[in-house]
Amino acid sequence: MQKIIGVFDSGVGGKTTLAEIQKVLPDAKTVYFGDSKNCPYGEKSQNELIKITSEIVERFTRAGATMVVIACNTATTQCIKTLREKFPGLTFVGTEPALKIACDRGYQNILLMATPVTIRSQQVARLVEKNVTNQGLTLLPCAGLAELVEAAAPVEAKLEELLSPIPNRDKIDAVVLGCTHYVYLKPQIQSYFPNAELIDGNSGVAKRVASLL
Ligand code: DGL
Repeated sequence: MQKIIGVFDSGVGGKTTLAEIQKVLPDAKTVYFGDSKNCPYGEKSQNELIKITSEIVERFTRAGATMVVIACNTATTQCIKTLREKFPGLTFVGTEPALKIACDRGYQNILLMATPVTIRSQQVARLVEKNVTNQGLTLLPCAGLAELVEAAAPVEAKLEELLSPIPNRDKIDAVVLGCTHYVYLKPQIQSYFPNAELIDGNSGVAKRVASLL
């Protein structure tokens, strides 16, 4: 029987991940849950996020899913370990900021944009420790950005507030989009970093799903 894959995020961000999964696995049976009621996840406590995401996973199990893709960096950092323990019969695939890809590609001056919760997380500390050796790295918590994307509200003023104070923007050669909502903002973000490659984790997630199916 074909596996049902549940994919969720705090809203529209994870749809960019879903699109990548559908590109790699056009016949996959997927169900998507965008939790816009609880958006933003990136400014909530771990306990709140575990409660919210456990309910979503329960919904997916009722729908017959056997694999769950957490298409959200924030929920992955805060919840994936607990969710794996709570739902041992399910296969979980998480999303993490693609810092490894940026380092493997040889970039030297990297900016990581993510929600405040992701930036503060142990997972990001571990990713930095494992991958960043002598590269320059700026960690930028982007409070307030994901909810603007979610509301389809203008983002220009917020991007200006967040990005224009960064010095030597033309020297940044990679921008890691550590929140799936930011994938929609690639053209606007690129205009601040003309010499950077913008990197998100979606193709890595899709490949991981394909390898597990
Ligand atoms: N899309 C989510 C992420 O990847 C978070 C957005 C939010 O703060 O709700 O981190």
